[in-house]
Amino acid sequence: YGDPSQKIDYVFKVVLIGDSAVGKSQILARFSRNEFSLDSKATIGVEFQTRTLVIEHKSVKAQIWDTAGQERYRAVTSAYYRGAVGAMLVYDITKRQSFDHIPRWLEELRSHADKNIVIILIGNKCDLENQREVPTEDAKEFAQKEGLFFLETSALEATNVETAFMTVLTEIF
Ligand code: GTP
Ligand code: MG
Repeated sequence: YGDPSQKIDYVFKVVLIGDSAVGKSQILARFSRNEFSLDSKATIGVEFQTRTLVIEHKSVKAQIWDTAGQERYRAVTSAYYRGAVGAMLVYDITKRQSFDHIPRWLEELRSHADKNIVIILIGNKCDLENQREVPTEDAKEFAQKEGLFFLETSALEATNVETAFMTVLTEIF
């Protein structure tokens, strides 16, 4: 679909990972279709969406992969990470546990993905400030220690979603 005459200069695969219900699928819906749903269903297996952007006068097709946070619904891990040049490691700022699991996700990512993969840590649902369980400073410190980019986002309010993807895509570029 789309304009068949459009010339694509680059295709970049970016993967989303993190616990179930942190908002991975809604971050993707916001980025690819500018949509958001409050009654989003848990992802089963793997899905992907694409969006073509212009970065430094080149057209870049971002192919964003999304999988289930729930173990029982996850697909084959090695295939998911294959060829990925960017990764978004997502937790929910209102769920401490989802942040405490980040080192595990990072370990899985580092053992399966290319060693030069660009990684951004994302604290999603920053619209729910009154329910916050993860201080921004804790995440910032962790990201710094691990050499990751870091942003807090809200898929609901569209805060920083575009910036998060642009950070990764520009760095890959
Ligand atoms: P799995 O597919 O099971 O791994 O979950 P997921 O990480 O894809 O979560 P999903 O995107 O389905 O979102 C889970 C719930 O959180 C849904 O009810 C979303 O509407 C809600 N949600 C996602 N992003 C935000 C956000 O930025 N703010 C708020 N308030 N709710 C959000
Ligand atoms: Mg999902």
